[in-house]
Amino acid sequence: MADLVKLTIDGKAVQVPPQTLVIDAAKTVGIEIPAFCYYEGLTLQAACRMCLVEVEKMPKLQTACTLVATDGMVVKTTTDQVRKARKDMIEFLLTNHPLDCPVCDKGGECELQDMTFRYGLDKTRFSEEKQHIPEEKWSPVVYYDRPRCILCFRCVRVCDEGMDVKALGVGVRGVQSVILPNKPGELACEECGMCIDICPVGALTSGTYRYQTRPWEMTYVGSPCTHCSNGCKTTLSVRNNEILRANNRDHSGINGEFLCAKGRFAFDFTVHPERIRQPLVRRNGKLEPASWEDAFERVARRLKQVRDAHGASAIGVIGSNHTTNEENYLLNRFARITLGTNNLDHHRTADYAGLAAALGLRMKDSLATMADIYNAPAVLLIGNDANNQNPLVGWQIRTGSRHQGLRLYVINGQPSKIHRQAKIVAEVPQGSEPQAIHWLATRQGQWDAKTTESLTQLKAALEAERDVAVVFGSNIQGGAIRELVSFAARLDGKTKFMALGDYSNSRGAADMGILPDRLPGYALLSDAAERARFGKLWGGEIPGAAGLTVRGMVEAASAGKIKALYVMGANPLKQFPGQQADRVAGLDLLVAHEMFLTETAQRADVVLPAACSYEKEGSLTNTAGQVQLTHRATDPQGPRSDFDLLRILSHQLSLLGLGAPIRLRTPAAALDEICQNVSGYDVSQVTLLGGGAELAAPVCRTVESYEPSAEAVFSSNDYLFTSGTLGRYCSRLTSTNEANEKPWSSSPSTQSWWHR
Ligand code: SF4
Ligand code: SF4
Ligand code: SF4
Ligand code: FES
Repeated sequence: MADLVKLTIDGKAVQVPPQTLVIDAAKTVGIEIPAFCYYEGLTLQAACRMCLVEVEKMPKLQTACTLVATDGMVVKTTTDQVRKARKDMIEFLLTNHPLDCPVCDKGGECELQDMTFRYGLDKTRFSEEKQHIPEEKWSPVVYYDRPRCILCFRCVRVCDEGMDVKALGVGVRGVQSVILPNKPGELACEECGMCIDICPVGALTSGTYRYQTRPWEMTYVGSPCTHCSNGCKTTLSVRNNEILRANNRDHSGINGEFLCAKGRFAFDFTVHPERIRQPLVRRNGKLEPASWEDAFERVARRLKQVRDAHGASAIGVIGSNHTTNEENYLLNRFARITLGTNNLDHHRTADYAGLAAALGLRMKDSLATMADIYNAPAVLLIGNDANNQNPLVGWQIRTGSRHQGLRLYVINGQPSKIHRQAKIVAEVPQGSEPQAIHWLATRQGQWDAKTTESLTQLKAALEAERDVAVVFGSNIQGGAIRELVSFAARLDGKTKFMALGDYSNSRGAADMGILPDRLPGYALLSDAAERARFGKLWGGEIPGAAGLTVRGMVEAASAGKIKALYVMGANPLKQFPGQQADRVAGLDLLVAHEMFLTETAQRADVVLPAACSYEKEGSLTNTAGQVQLTHRATDPQGPRSDFDLLRILSHQLSLLGLGAPIRLRTPAAALDEICQNVSGYDVSQVTLLGGGAELAAPVCRTVESYEPSAEAVFSSNDYLFTSGTLGRYCSRLTSTNEANEKPWSSSPSTQSWWHR
């Protein structure tokens, strides 16, 4: 490391690396220099003059946010001249700023309030009447209150530099300056709300939260976002058992300051009027409300009947990619021991089992975390529109590229905004990314001259890189992952991998063995020792033959071979559309744990209302393999956690002679068992309990090739404004203009803001 720079601030000796700004140097010794426009990670603006300090041998006050610390510098931050300058700046800022703190959303959390309290005057020399300008609604989720704006330009910079959307700008000069959206009076953008979060005052406010409450009336619960697979930590602000806001209160998660539109605004599905709050049972062909006792009794009795009449292989169990690890773990035991079937699968949105098989014993130090993406010198992104489908991954790539010079290489068959950051984009025909990998690994395959040239350039560039992070989407599966790993392993340094799935626990569902041929931790079902190990743990015998995939179960149901289908938090009849009635025509029993009357729940014989991850304790594993705890922010008032539903049913079934009851009483007890018994999950619970994330890397000990069956792994291609079933019931999300325009569509209106 280069020599440290030595300076003095307010008489304290300070040592910092070269190029450190005085404002940051002061922080290292606990000295606060007030600032509005300075924001770590964004370009310097020097607009607010709040950070003025005195520096010996410099004639005028200096802005600490742009001044680089140098050897021997003597800085003073509390002189009379500095104090007066700060008071004057605040007086200017308040010239036309309305003093409507009692009703302003930012009241209690406002940097201007705090600075005025700490550094301002208690009176003003300006007695002119303030100019009122009405608030503007720029979108259903972003509002602008012009007189409150202090023109720090943080919003403009975060939208431009952080989001690469560039939807905000500055109009007019001098005292007339104003922040403007990219369309007359409205925004066409990603609706991420980052501009709202970063605004130091109440000038940009949230459509979901404005004028609803005061910050001190709420309680705050940190929990992972319930939507995509990236696992951003959100702070849920709760009052009277209702989530009123989701934001990034302490930036303590793996996502730092980032949240996309879904994490920030898409929580109102929890209180949607169509939420199922009572068990439903089918009577005379119609779903009707029922008591819990009636619903449990029916499910248990009829599952037993099917098993007695047709055998366990006539029962299928479909798990979820947004229920918790503990629930998936229990479902595994419930299916294989209580019901005795290996017909167990879920909608797989990435081939995590394939990655585990391809990496084998290397898994532990070969998975890329979200931080690894940001820190990587180079990223190879294959076949996924990261900005849309994995927004945090997109953010990590963008910020890594701005802050650290990360070089991005892309192989993709569809346009994406993230290509703007790429050094080389090999545009291949849509869906042919696996063939491109084959070409990289073997030089075999036919492409047109342009594609061959870009692939050749990309290969040469990658071979000159080291420590590459390889990130790939759902259509890289089985053999293609093996080829990718073998190609990337030949690159210099330590190559790391991340498979990109769709939903909040896509990875956890696979890790917990919700697969027809794998036990938790990708232990092979065909391995008698592993079957015996989990059988002993779960108090029963696990059958040895691999079961059916989701598709296999749905098809077997329509052929009358599966007689009972038990579906926990999934919607297979939407995923495999067609004549839905035909799909389940042969079933004697369809049970669904659900929040809403989805296509599957509508056909069910019994619907058990389920809680979402904002309403229960447990853990989720993001697509990188990072485990985080979920926390109960609200009481769902009626619905129960899938964990409780499975436990209760196991007790009910045991009374009928099917299996032993599940003795794990709480998700915490189940997590203990997981940590002790599932490969890769021996993670530090201290970190988890402290709100942190731990990497779980299940090791496939029996290294073998893995090929998922056809159409077992596929993405729903959700994007920024959709999120499976949950997204459909988020009115805030669906009310935005952009929700109705697929960003990679050829729609001219979309193209204009997306692909500029
Ligand atoms: S909501 Fe996001 S994309 Fe839209 S203007 Fe604000 S920062 Fe930019
Ligand atoms: S709207 Fe907020 S963030 Fe944007 S310039 Fe005004 S005060 Fe700063
Ligand atoms: S990137 Fe994914 S996890 Fe993060 S806020 Fe958005 S939807 Fe939620
Ligand atoms: S923080 Fe330095 S000028 Fe605004």
